[in-house]
This record gives sequence, structure tokens and C-alpha cells, in this order.
Amino acid sequence: MSIVDDILQLKKERNAIILAHNYQRGEVQDIADYVGDSFGLSQKAVQAGAEVIVFCGVDFMAESAAILNPDKTVLLPTPGAGCPMARMITPFDVQSLRLDHPDAEVVCYVNSSAAVKAMSDVCCTSSNAVKVVDSCRSDRVIFVPDKNLAAYVQLHTTKQIYPWHGYCPTHEIITEGDVLLAKMDHPGAEVIVHPECRPEVVAIADGVFSTDGMLKYAKTTSKDLIIGTEMGIIHRLQKENPGRNFFPISQFVVCPNMKMNSLETVRDSLKDMRTRIRVPEDIRIKAKRALDRMLEVGR
Ligand code: 13P
Ligand code: SF4
Repeated sequence: MSIVDDILQLKKERNAIILAHNYQRGEVQDIADYVGDSFGLSQKAVQAGAEVIVFCGVDFMAESAAILNPDKTVLLPTPGAGCPMARMITPFDVQSLRLDHPDAEVVCYVNSSAAVKAMSDVCCTSSNAVKVVDSCRSDRVIFVPDKNLAAYVQLHTTKQIYPWHGYCPTHEIITEGDVLLAKMDHPGAEVIVHPECRPEVVAIADGVFSTDGMLKYAKTTSKDLIIGTEMGIIHRLQKENPGRNFFPISQFVVCPNMKMNSLETVRDSLKDMRTRIRVPEDIRIKAKRALDRMLEVGR
């Protein structure tokens, strides 16, 4: 039996569903029941009828699934797969931001720990950050932890944003020079980037989208596209648009944490039911409020 057959067999035995982020390895995306962006994955985690969710992504994503589904077993195939940006802010930081800006609401990007979510009023993803900020009652919003997404939101809202200084190391390495060079290498191609990119990169891009937003945009144009995000998404872009050209903006835009899951770790996680993600109940209840409010706002 092949490893894929093993996974399919184990999935049936465990009554499991496999969710994978758009940045996962191609072979992991191919065995998943659903592949998507952070918002879509949170929605799917809530709708999943299965008893077990194998979350092929990084820890904050699996944690969100566990927060939203206390009665399901949520497994992260590779326990060390974390998000460096999520580690750039602590609950104490949020507390001190609240003291500095007492009349502001706290919007927290889902790329954060459960404890930080629990200290926030509402979560957002890259696909609904502007909508979530605009849904706040207050005219002042503390936005954590991503300074680049905060800067992007500030361009599209009249509310005053107080950003934290976190960032995604994978997107931060993309420079204006990369955009200009890629345009020279591929004349006629459009550059689309993720809002986790630096503001100067966002400013000269032709479009700014979440990962699912990029997949949707690709269907509306026949142009070649230069992709300014983690290059795992190119697998799905090519699969859904055969014969089209999608060029990574640079060969270095790889998130090592997203690449830690493999067919082997997915099979082993289903075999041994590990690593189970658990969130302490007091934190889970508060964090769920912020995630539920985000899901209510929608995309
Ligand atoms: P989205 O897929 O929600 O755009 O998120 C990108 C990301 O960096 C997740 O870690
Ligand atoms: Fe975190 Fe960036 Fe990797 Fe996403 S791509 S998991 S934000 S480090």
C-alpha cells in the first residue's frame, strides 16, 4: 500500500478530515479534504462533521480549530510547526496597549496565540481585516501583531490604527527591488502580493490579496502573474489554471514552518493520534468570542 492509501484508510478508521493551508507542500494539499486560506479553514473547522481534524498548517491555525471545536480532536502533524509572527506579542503586551489606548478596541490577526486572542475584542484574517476594523464600534483600533497588515488596513479605513510591531519574516524579505526585477524578467505580467508584505512593496503591486483572494483573482485575468507570497500557493494556482504562468516573486519566499508537515507526518499523526492541540478552558472561552465575532463579520 502507498502512503496515500495508508492515509485514506486511517482517515476512514478515525473519522477524520484533513484541512491544509495554501502554503502546504503540494503533496499534502493533494490529500487534503479542503485547502484554503486562514478564514476558509476556520469556517471549515466549524462545519466539519468529522470527529478528528488533522490540521496541516502551523500551530495557531490548529489552535483556532481547537478553540472553535472543543468536542473534536484537533491534531497538528508536526508539533514544532509554529508561526514566528505569532510569537512576537504576548498577552502582557496587549494589556499595556489597552492601558495606553483605553478607548480603543483590540483587533487581533489570527496569526497569534490563543492567550493573545483571549485578550482581544475580535480576530481577523488577511481576507477580512478592513471589514473587521470597520465593524468596530470605536473609532480607534489597536491592531496586533502584524505592522504590515496594520499599515494596509490604515490605507483603507478612516479609523485610527495603533499597530504592534510584529511581522512575518517570510513576507518581510520581499523588497521593492524584487518587484521591479520580477517585472523586468516577465514583461506584461501583473504583480500580486499579500498584505503581510512591506508597505513599499504593497504600494507598487498591481493587486493585494489574501491567499484565497489570489486564487480568485487568477480566474478573472488571463495575464501571467508574479506571486508575492509564500510559494506553496503556486501549486494550487497551477493545478486550477493549467497552461497559465505563475512566477514566484523570488526563490526565497518560503515559510519553513509551513513546510514541516509531510505525507509521513500526516500518516503518523493519524496512526498515533498526535499531536493533540489543547487550549485551557478559561482561555478557550474568551478566544472563541473573538473568533466567533470574526466569523460573524464574514469576508
Ligand atoms: P492567508 O492564507 O489567510 O492569506 O494567510 C497567510 C498566512 O501567512 C498564514 O500564515
Ligand atoms: Fe507565520 Fe509568515 Fe509562516 Fe504565515 S508565512 S505561518 S505568517 S511565518
